[in-house]
Amino acid sequence: MLLDIVILAAGKGTRMKSSLPKVLHTIGGQPMLGHVLDAAIELDSDNINIVIGHGSEAVKQAFVDEPVRFVEQTEQLGTGHAVQQALPYLRDDAVALILYGDVPLTPTATLREMLDQVGAEAMSLLTVELDDPSGYGRIIRNAQGNARAIVEQKDASKDQLAITEVNTGIMAISSKLLKDWLPKLSNDNAQGEYYLTDVVEMASCEYIDINIVQADSEMDVQGVNNRVQQAELERYYQMVQAAILLEEGVNLLDPERFDCRGELIAGSDVTIDVNCVFEGDVKLGNNIYIGPNCVIANSVIGDNTVIKANSVLEEVSVAGNSDIGPFARLRPGTELADGAKIGNFVETKKAKVGKGSKINHLSYVGDAELGEGVNVGAGTITCNYDGVNKSKTTIEDGAFIGSNTSLVAPVSVGKSATVGAGSTVNKDVEANQLAVCRAKQRNIDNWPKPEKK
Ligand code: UD1
Ligand code: CA
Repeated sequence: MLLDIVILAAGKGTRMKSSLPKVLHTIGGQPMLGHVLDAAIELDSDNINIVIGHGSEAVKQAFVDEPVRFVEQTEQLGTGHAVQQALPYLRDDAVALILYGDVPLTPTATLREMLDQVGAEAMSLLTVELDDPSGYGRIIRNAQGNARAIVEQKDASKDQLAITEVNTGIMAISSKLLKDWLPKLSNDNAQGEYYLTDVVEMASCEYIDINIVQADSEMDVQGVNNRVQQAELERYYQMVQAAILLEEGVNLLDPERFDCRGELIAGSDVTIDVNCVFEGDVKLGNNIYIGPNCVIANSVIGDNTVIKANSVLEEVSVAGNSDIGPFARLRPGTELADGAKIGNFVETKKAKVGKGSKINHLSYVGDAELGEGVNVGAGTITCNYDGVNKSKTTIEDGAFIGSNTSLVAPVSVGKSATVGAGSTVNKDVEANQLAVCRAKQRNIDNWPKPEKK
């Protein structure tokens, strides 16, 4: 069966109190519409239509590379009117699945269950039981328990308001039926809108099968209308991520203080202390400890590495057996070979650090290549920028850079060379040389100490 998908995303989202269109607000670091699109793509539809209106340029821009069609709804006249805009693109022999850009976490298994039940002439509704159904459309069933209609809160009678089974909005229906019925919708209701939900009564009148699938959890179908709902859904999403990792054997010291905004893959015996944030694609090997308050983005960390508290790593690769932090900042292009060590208050950028080399304290190493067994003393700075151009610093195997050294790039320090503490090095140092460049010390005898006036 061909699958047409229509994602409604034209609403303004006034209650978010934000200039960003609602569907671009994120859950787990990804726009809500992105989550919905992932589900649509997973369902293998080759006809995905997104109905946009408010903030349409920004929405288009955010998904410009995706295999979707954008359909403009210039005036928001209701959910039925929104789907109507996509009708010209639906195929008579397909089933249409209606999704919402602000309902981001519906499992594809649930959507599949709905689709499995829709034949050529039928529809499926996704409903949920709520303790407090207020605001939602109520599912009206007949004596046999079959769905007969959906009545919106504002149009409902007192008895209907007591119904706790509500419409999630998500439905699957043969595209042909939609094409027959949507042009017949009327806006003669309390809100003066064209309700998509009115097709349920039309189906019932024509004895079309209406299958009901109930959501497993409220969160699966929770929409986001305000920051409170966004925050609730974010916590739920993170708890699910954490539960998966715990199941896989990751030692999360507190699953409630863990955030993954992307994809985290971890090997065995990985411990993650509290308040860490993972962004983009992060891959952790085996036997790794990550201390509290670390941020790791788009990085690969090899086996037996320790990353101590408050370290920030972004686009970094660590071969393994490294010791990093506390308070280390590894910026894009940092590559640590086996056993390299980066200590506290060290910043690196586009820096290759060779096997077993150490930058232990208070340094900036950028646009640099360090060989094996190099020791960079405290307070060493690679002066890589002259205000216009960036230049490279090379430090070869076994070199020793004394504390408080400025390496004025482009410059190189040869194999096993030594740079004396406090030097400003702007000439290459050859292998095995000592470079020392600082004012000569004078010791003055019997220096009169100042006296208090
Ligand atoms: C809708 C359902 C209601 C259901 C509820 C679930 C209808 C008539 N009612 O009500 O039964 O319980 O969702 O949350 O369908 N949208 C457009 N264009 C429009 C109108 C809406 O794209 O002209 C989009 C919105 O951006 C939103 C979604 O459709 O993503 C739902 O619209 P909303 O106005 O929130 O519908 P509800 O009144 O909540
Ligand atoms: Ca809504």
